[in-house]
Amino acid sequence: MQEDFSQEPAILGRDLKDLEKYGSQGCAYLGKVVMSSGESPVLGRKVLVDVSRPHLMLICGKRGGGKSHTISVFMEEMARLDPSIKNRVAAITIDTVGIFWGLKLPAGDVKELKDWDLSAQKTDVKVLVPAGQLNFYKEKGLPVDGAFTLKCSELEETEWMALFRLSWRDPEGILISRSVQRVREKVGTYYGIDDLISAIKTDEESDSNTKQGIVSRLQMVKSWGLIEKEGTKISELATPGMISVIDVSSYRQTVGAEGVKDVIVALVGKKIFEQRMLFRKEEEIRLIKENKRTSKMPLVWLLIDEAHMFMPKDEPNIALPILLEWVRVGRQPGLGLILATQRPEKIHPDAISQCDLFISHRMTSQPDIAAVGALRPTYMHTDLDKLYAEMPRQKGFALVIDDNTERTWMIKTRPRFSWDSSVTASAFLV
Ligand SMILES: Nc1ncnc2c1ncn2[C@@H]1O[C@H](COP(=O)(O)OP(=O)(O)OP(=O)(O)O)[C@@H](O)[C@H]1O
Ligand SMILES: [Mg+2]
Repeated sequence: MQEDFSQEPAILGRDLKDLEKYGSQGCAYLGKVVMSSGESPVLGRKVLVDVSRPHLMLICGKRGGGKSHTISVFMEEMARLDPSIKNRVAAITIDTVGIFWGLKLPAGDVKELKDWDLSAQKTDVKVLVPAGQLNFYKEKGLPVDGAFTLKCSELEETEWMALFRLSWRDPEGILISRSVQRVREKVGTYYGIDDLISAIKTDEESDSNTKQGIVSRLQMVKSWGLIEKEGTKISELATPGMISVIDVSSYRQTVGAEGVKDVIVALVGKKIFEQRMLFRKEEEIRLIKENKRTSKMPLVWLLIDEAHMFMPKDEPNIALPILLEWVRVGRQPGLGLILATQRPEKIHPDAISQCDLFISHRMTSQPDIAAVGALRPTYMHTDLDKLYAEMPRQKGFALVIDDNTERTWMIKTRPRFSWDSSVTASAFLV
């Protein structure tokens, strides 16, 4: 690994042309370069990462290594971009653990921030939680902004089946599909779960057990308040400068509808993709006619913690093909992905092979290290194993492999400005 003692920040993820034109504008302050070995290494110049163009970033590391912290730092930085750039960017974070509301409060531990010449600050993010939990959050005084709901008619047959983990082989799967089609033909796009239930009850081809099975599941879904006639406009999550969080944590273990968080990610990913493709065309026409790159829709970042859940290597998932579209062709329409996982071995290999910025906290599991071993580019001259062994054991250190600068870096991520609600549980009271 090369050492550089100059004080100019290191800018990662940016090619020479952009570097000359934009300098450090539109970058996120991720941390500092590690300059020496040992457990408390000397830290050097700042490390900035380009967020003004779409990238595929993969953040790995074992439990408690600092992945969610790194995602939070990216969100804090996106919220603090210079207004002219911020208004061209939007970010949506899928929160599988229910921790990112902490961004709305300033950090409690200010000592480390002081050491870095930083201060505790809250961050302007919009936190959306399941409708059924909004009151709980509010009663407990947790800072949330509202409920996230899906528009019933936006769920197509395959999404209903995925919600209940059904297939075309299951009579329930066939029944729900037929009912969705019937309702759609009858009422168009403005219908709710009750309309589906009525269609199921009047279905003439299914037996009563199958009908009852699906009706009970739909009633349960209705009780969550997630799927409504109106629903959150997904396009509104991607308005210029907005950083939003969708808390799907309570759907992790939902009995009878295990696929719900997958369906949320699939729908958000699909809608944003479709819209961005259209707006990209508008942008191009303006660029040709007016020589200016403007459009109402910003570049969109999707940040997914525990991404192996949605992009598994060896099982189907409704979100997988959509996220793979983001991975494979997202850069052209302006869709960036930041994926975090503690199990690179479990994630779809394209998420690894296509990433142009790899940020890895400590990893010790050999199968996981082997899975990212495929990344070893020609400009990397040291084995991953060796780099992990050299990495300090404290939290926040990371190895960064950047395809744009064709370099590898050992860094320490900066402390966060905002409240850390992911601190490991402890039995001690204070
Ligand atoms: N750069 C850093 N400076 C200070 N503390 C850090 C840093 N990075 C991480 N931490 C702390 O380490 C703890 C674990 O970090 P985090 O929750 O981000 O880990 P994780 O990799 O997401 O773990 P899990 O796999 O369990 O989700 C947190 O309390 C976090 O604040
Ligand atoms: Mg985490």
